[in-house]
Amino acid sequence: DKAGYKHFMAKEIAEQPQVLSDALNAYLTEEGIALPDPGIDFAKIDRLTMVACGTAYYACLTAKYWFEQLAGLPVEVDIASEFRYREPPVLPGTAALFVSQSGETADTLAALRYCADKADKIFSVVNVPNSSIARESDLALPIHAGVEIGVASTKAFTCQLNVLLLLALKAAEARGRLTPEARDEILKGLRALPGTFNAALDRDEVIAGVARKLAEARDILFLGRGLMYPLALEGALKLKEISYIHAEAYASGELKHGPIALIDKHVPVVVMAPKDALFEKTVSNMQEVMARGGKVCLVTDAEGAAAAGQDVWRVVQMPTVPDVLAPILYALPAQLLAYHTAIAKGTDVDQPRNLAKSVTVE
Ligand code: F6R
Repeated sequence: DKAGYKHFMAKEIAEQPQVLSDALNAYLTEEGIALPDPGIDFAKIDRLTMVACGTAYYACLTAKYWFEQLAGLPVEVDIASEFRYREPPVLPGTAALFVSQSGETADTLAALRYCADKADKIFSVVNVPNSSIARESDLALPIHAGVEIGVASTKAFTCQLNVLLLLALKAAEARGRLTPEARDEILKGLRALPGTFNAALDRDEVIAGVARKLAEARDILFLGRGLMYPLALEGALKLKEISYIHAEAYASGELKHGPIALIDKHVPVVVMAPKDALFEKTVSNMQEVMARGGKVCLVTDAEGAAAAGQDVWRVVQMPTVPDVLAPILYALPAQLLAYHTAIAKGTDVDQPRNLAKSVTVE
């Protein structure tokens, strides 16, 4: 049931304030984070290995920044199909974490089984609580996204991020890395996030306007730094999946190491950059793009919009949130850009060609 929406994807995008709030109700109480006891002392482990495919892999890449910056815990992230056949050493002191919406992805399950007798603990972050990946984990944390029907993952991604951030905060607490003030500020932002997300949904029209132009392009680049880099990867994946336009993401700092050769007036560049500590660096990357005729669509907050300058082609202005939360909120414009570009191209948004919702064979 599409509940009045044209597509499941539109419905699932719009549901995000509700499902994020469901997960926060499940995992956040007055006193703080109430995740089930992970059965592992985060203060004692030496590293976390995270493994997943596709969008879930980008959720892991985002979480790497959180675990490392907030909890001081070294993290390795790998694509399941690479990890399982490389058979990497899993040293004592390693916790292994698998992220999967379906909980049935063949490569992710095989990677989990590879770790089963090697890692200190096997965790998973899943949407389907009785899935194979959940059942074979020591602890499975459901993301509370509800059934996701659109083949391109939307609400599952933001809900994965939500739970992964809570887990990183839990690890930060255990490792004594975060001041109570810093922690409370993040939790306050998280509690407000469903409302912030709801407010951000009204950027839909502006984004649809940008998307009608993007639909004319053959190639589109996405750029981001720090926490916005994995999100740029997710934005490019979403766009190519449903609009069939070639889209590629780079860490902004990599631009001059190659991809800048692609820039001309036919290649729009989507830059994801709230006004965080790295914003100035991203602005200089944007200027390099614009100096070569590239059209920049900047997704940023009010301060970023004011600082961006006149030459930016389009600005999508997001509400301001603590830096740590930006990847969750900025997933929304990434999803809407892909959605509206696909609509403008007339492709099948919910059932893109060649793709299956759950990849149970490799
Ligand atoms: C992209 C998408 C896929 C999945 C990937 C993993 O929109 O949906 O990239 O994220 O196939 O699937 P799960 O999370 O079920 O393991």
